[in-house]
Amino acid sequence: MIRILIFAALIFIVLIQLHDLKFAPFISEEKITSVIDAMALKINQDYNGKNPVFLAVLNGAFMVASEIIKRFDGDCEVAFVKLGSYQGTSTTGNVETLVGLNISLQNRHVVVIEDIVDTGITLEAIYRILEKEHAADYKIATLFFKPEAYQKKFTVNYIGMEIPNDFIVGYGLDYNGLGRNLTQVYKLKKENMTNLVLFGPPGAGKGTQANFLKDKYKLVHISTGDVFRYNIKNETSLGLHAKSFMDQGKLVPDNVTIEMLGAEVDKNKGANGFIFDGFPRTVAQAEALAVLLEEKNTNVSAMIALEVDDEVLVQRLLERGKTSGRKDDADEAIIRNRIHVYYEETAILKQFYLKEDKYYGVDGVGSISEITERISAVIDSL
Ligand code: IMP
Ligand code: MG
Repeated sequence: MIRILIFAALIFIVLIQLHDLKFAPFISEEKITSVIDAMALKINQDYNGKNPVFLAVLNGAFMVASEIIKRFDGDCEVAFVKLGSYQGTSTTGNVETLVGLNISLQNRHVVVIEDIVDTGITLEAIYRILEKEHAADYKIATLFFKPEAYQKKFTVNYIGMEIPNDFIVGYGLDYNGLGRNLTQVYKLKKENMTNLVLFGPPGAGKGTQANFLKDKYKLVHISTGDVFRYNIKNETSLGLHAKSFMDQGKLVPDNVTIEMLGAEVDKNKGANGFIFDGFPRTVAQAEALAVLLEEKNTNVSAMIALEVDDEVLVQRLLERGKTSGRKDDADEAIIRNRIHVYYEETAILKQFYLKEDKYYGVDGVGSISEITERISAVIDSL
């Protein structure tokens, strides 16, 4: 017990805050030192007696460059370029040369030193500079490499270590200018939210369950249908925009819908999480939702799909039709078609979330409280 408390206290203490974001320890100084040792060893072997130019890419690479250069035996020279592409925690896609080269690299053996290669857009700009300079040859050394983010084909010759596609700071790397001085690397801490994508065929009791779950877990229930109706009724600019498509009998484009959802998410800052109901319906929408949540520093925790046998659904809806008077609940052929459409839509999304290990099918036959308990068991396991 005491040990657990001490452990919890340690975790609590080591989180750091830079501007508005929190970061957790990720790569220790010892680990960084050992990967730099290994890189420097190879560079020493490859450039022994060649008087290379180490070209450090500022700002981020100043720390790793210093370490690699210190470990180089023999003659070498040092040069710098300063390129910029990042704003906050994401790339802008454009690389600007902020400080240019101040020596000629013609006929030189150049070792570019980078702190991190992410999309590779900066690297592409460096390759262009090196081509123009007519260097004898050049190789790229980077302390960190994000294979999942990398979009280019250029070879990265020396890689300290590969890391997942997370935003990191420390050891030269910054978040909006801060964190470069940290001697170990920290990773952006995701908001600890429970974001559920809730699915269920017509008649599965999705609405009822969403109501219980939102109270039990203090989640905000976002029903796309309600959000549309609200925006249109209140004539918000997004609502009017959406309506202009609906009036022409067209589907509202995904970007309009996602903007409305984004506005709902923003209205509920500090929420424990969200239940998304009625969205996404397509893979494109699922991807858009991922981007939206990523921007809010969180992600989809799970897709929960209520599973109910077709015959049970048909019986339930026919029962409901008798009392509710809803026309679409009275005709068996219409009911079966709605169920069919549901499975066509969800099949693709099931695959999408299965791939991310986020799909949870829940048996939707039983009493309301039994089903709530089954869903709760899933949420508690996340
Ligand atoms: P790329 O052009 O996408 O490869 O990004 C390279 C530049 O983006 C780096 O030199 C960094 O300045 C910045 N960058 C990329 N990923 C991170 C990160 O996780 N933390 C801090 N800066 C990063
Ligand atoms: Mg850099």
